[in-house]
Amino acid sequence: MEEKKSNQNFYIESYGCQMNVSDSEIVTSILLKNGYFLSQDLKKANIILLNSCSIREKAELTIKKRLEQLEFLKKKKKIMFGIIGCFSKQMENFLIEEKKVDFIVNPNSYKEISNIIYHAKIGKRYLYAINRNETYENIKPFHINENKVTTFLSITRGCNNMCTFCIVPFTRGREKSSSPNSIIEKCKRLYKNGYKEVTLLGQNVDSYQWTENFNMKKNIDFSDLLNLIAKENPFLRIRFSTSNPHDMSDKVLKVISKNPNICKHIHLPVQSGSNKILKLMNRKYTREEYLILIKKIRTIIPECSISHDIMTGFCNEEESDHQETISLMNEVKYDYGYMFFYSPRPGTYAYKKLEDNVPINIKKKRLKEIINLQKNHSYLRMKKHLGNVEEILIEGKSKRNDQYWYGRNTQNIIVVFPKKSSKIGELVHVKIIKNTSATLIGLIC
Ligand code: 5AD
Ligand code: SF4
Repeated sequence: MEEKKSNQNFYIESYGCQMNVSDSEIVTSILLKNGYFLSQDLKKANIILLNSCSIREKAELTIKKRLEQLEFLKKKKKIMFGIIGCFSKQMENFLIEEKKVDFIVNPNSYKEISNIIYHAKIGKRYLYAINRNETYENIKPFHINENKVTTFLSITRGCNNMCTFCIVPFTRGREKSSSPNSIIEKCKRLYKNGYKEVTLLGQNVDSYQWTENFNMKKNIDFSDLLNLIAKENPFLRIRFSTSNPHDMSDKVLKVISKNPNICKHIHLPVQSGSNKILKLMNRKYTREEYLILIKKIRTIIPECSISHDIMTGFCNEEESDHQETISLMNEVKYDYGYMFFYSPRPGTYAYKKLEDNVPINIKKKRLKEIINLQKNHSYLRMKKHLGNVEEILIEGKSKRNDQYWYGRNTQNIIVVFPKKSSKIGELVHVKIIKNTSATLIGLIC
């Protein structure tokens, strides 16, 4: 992109989840409309935005470190630093007291960002406004990513679940859904612009809810929305994330099974296999209910892959609770998963009311155990693909070998294969011939 000679060049860096990546595209779109220019080169920018994540203490430390790393830029010219995205109250105080940044913008205030930058320029620091109902449904995201094949679209923002460990309800606020029309229109536009796959995003997509004001009887839930998007965009591949087990309905499972363009993968964070811990986490389901849901998924959508998030070392977790998590993993044998050890987040119920009483070495030991177990399960699951001919959407060059493409199958598993005469964005049939615990290797048929 052409660099403009102006003091309005901004550079944006995203940390954390896909929601943040998608938000960076919204912020970029808003700034471009307000006369700012996107810079691809950090050194040429005079406004640097870090889209931050505060889900775990480590994520916040990463942002602090990055700010320190970038300090040197200030020596050469006048530069403004802004933190956008999720930050805890503690982080906010640190930024303000230590004068680390010129402004901060909460995820509900992005429409105010150019105003905020203007005020920061004239010396009013850290000003931000909050619109708690903001969905950005009327903003056309500016796609920064070069890969024009797959993208993300948020359908709900915020979260009402109040899991006791989670900072999201405090950083992103109450849940709000975008209108079905705006989502369907965006999907159509994406397809027209060359995208072949969209992942619908939300902290808890299954609690999507829309009621038409003029006709109170017309309620659209997540299953209706998925069905509408799939039918209106029959050639667009559709994925979604994240599902809270508490809110996932049979209706959603049936819609997934009936629509060939909805990918057969569900990310279903369990967090723990122990009812005692689930209760302390306020997860609103039991181990038994979770396992019934897994059975239902496998009955209604037999080819569906299932992934998880699991946290070790939550408050009061004993060895027997950890063993229950291990036994649940052995029962489900997930395709893959994301695993963490618990870190208390300021402002949450757990931070205020529960004791962080599992020593760090035990948290880490348990984490290592579940990571190793997951590796074994992933390997077993991947082996089951051997000999299959699977439909893969080509997304780009393999990182290890540029004679190979990489793409994903419907189960969201990465598949690499020699290019032959195929192109990025094409759907091809690939015979799976080898596997590791994370990747499938194949040949185009
Ligand atoms: N400490 C560690 N992991 C956390 N997660 C959320 N909050 C915390 C925390 N305080 C994990 C959960 C969630 C994922 C996105 O991050 O597993 O599903
Ligand atoms: Fe995403 Fe959660 Fe991190 Fe916010 S705190 S950026 S919602 S992962």
